[in-house]
Amino acid sequence: MTWSEKGQVLATEAGRNHVAGPCTFVIFGGSGDLARRKLLPALYNLMLDGMLPSGYAVLGLGRKTLSDQDFRARAREGVGKYSRQALDDGKWAEFERRLFYLSGSIDDSQLYHDIRTRAEKIEAELKLPAHRIFYLAVPPASFATTCEGLQGAGLAQPTLGPTPFPRMIVEKPIGHDLESARQINVIVGQVYEESQIFRIDHYLGKETVQNLMVLRFANSIFEPIWNHKFIDHVQITVSEAEGVGTRATYYQEAGALRDMVQNHLLQLLCLVAMEPPYSLDPHVVRNARMEVLRCLHPITGQDVERFVVRAQYGHGKVNNVDVPGFRREPGIPSDSTTETYVALKAFVENWRWAGVPFYLRTGKGMVKRASEIAVQFRDIPQILFNANPAAPQAPNVLALRIQPEEGLSLRIISKTPGSKAQTHPVEMHFKYGDVFGAPSPEAYERLLLDVMAGDASLFMRRDAVEASWAWITNILEGWKAQGIKWLPEYAAGSWGPVEADRLIQTDGRAWRTL
Ligand code: BG6
Repeated sequence: MTWSEKGQVLATEAGRNHVAGPCTFVIFGGSGDLARRKLLPALYNLMLDGMLPSGYAVLGLGRKTLSDQDFRARAREGVGKYSRQALDDGKWAEFERRLFYLSGSIDDSQLYHDIRTRAEKIEAELKLPAHRIFYLAVPPASFATTCEGLQGAGLAQPTLGPTPFPRMIVEKPIGHDLESARQINVIVGQVYEESQIFRIDHYLGKETVQNLMVLRFANSIFEPIWNHKFIDHVQITVSEAEGVGTRATYYQEAGALRDMVQNHLLQLLCLVAMEPPYSLDPHVVRNARMEVLRCLHPITGQDVERFVVRAQYGHGKVNNVDVPGFRREPGIPSDSTTETYVALKAFVENWRWAGVPFYLRTGKGMVKRASEIAVQFRDIPQILFNANPAAPQAPNVLALRIQPEEGLSLRIISKTPGSKAQTHPVEMHFKYGDVFGAPSPEAYERLLLDVMAGDASLFMRRDAVEASWAWITNILEGWKAQGIKWLPEYAAGSWGPVEADRLIQTDGRAWRTL
């Protein structure tokens, strides 16, 4: 195998088809927030980077009555505000010609016939094949109606091919527990084949998250020590400074466990813990991640209280701004028991990870936005430089920073300059921005491109969604049985509740300060 730059690219992409063919995106929820903040900016950036196929179109759907021109103006405003790369008038003109809008209610079967007529018209005008990608950016309660409507209008029939069109992108939340997730999967599965369905977990599209596989399987130094013999524990933190913002209704029902742990944090855990896949084929990679979910020790009954901490942010200051506390946020009931913070201890019961705790924590209204995966290695023996039990040496830690600054750091012990035999922990840092210059693509850019190319590696397969819900539902049931009226609080702008500190301190460990 060649190790030239070009050779590496070929080797890495071998077996993966990243050629995005011409297609039309049909976005349910086209006038909504996700389209404005994420989807349209992602498509615009893909166009700027020359990654979009030569032929493409976007048809936004929504209740609001908008003309194509109105939709384009809204899209421009969203792109201007949220795009990774600056808005360029010339490029925008090229892009917006391909944006269209159709208004209607998803409960009205006529809408689906209108979609078909409109899509056919656009395809004829732009000389596109009838390759459609439907994006379900609507509440799960509407999934059934939408899928049935699409089927009724003949918009679900698969074409031949390794990954057939039409394709369906499903946004979270996919259910609120195991039963509801199953129902959604059944509904979508009755209309589309699994190979046509792309369930998004946008964390899988983040650059550092993808780098985890490269780090583990493209370097020779990590894999031999990536197991219980060398690793003491793993910490996965996703902390957010923002509160619930404008999503009070959704968040009050969801809470941090459903909103963040069921999907994003468990997927990060899977990438850390998975066995090396034997190829980059989507099935193989997804099988490897799935195996980890199967090995997670269920947290049930009394263990829920021992291994899981939940809390709510109370009054405090985040970035010097007063935050009233969760129960006082607009739209949140004053006796809400919805958690805005979760910390838990999980175990992956297999040969590689026997006895290694995975500590997960996530919360809103915390001190800052910072996410990382930290792998802490075992202590060295208490001899030589570590002979003084009163001053134990800091352990080696490999930390993968997911945000805000993507990169990684490795803590090693170094000699303090001078004649004494003193040591000091030092950090080696690698920042994506410093090495590769331009900011990394947004997760949605990568994921939309993968859907166009028919590559499902970074998407959630049905069995994985259900396995993670099964694990989470045990905890939800444990909480229900506790029947708690008030949750512990942490001050907004802090690192979380003391109960979470106790969870890890009981094991003689501590949370990292990010
Ligand atoms: C979403 C959650 O899935 O992820 C939000 O619903 C959360 O509550 C968001 O804020 C975090 O994503 P990111 O990419 O900003 O870390």
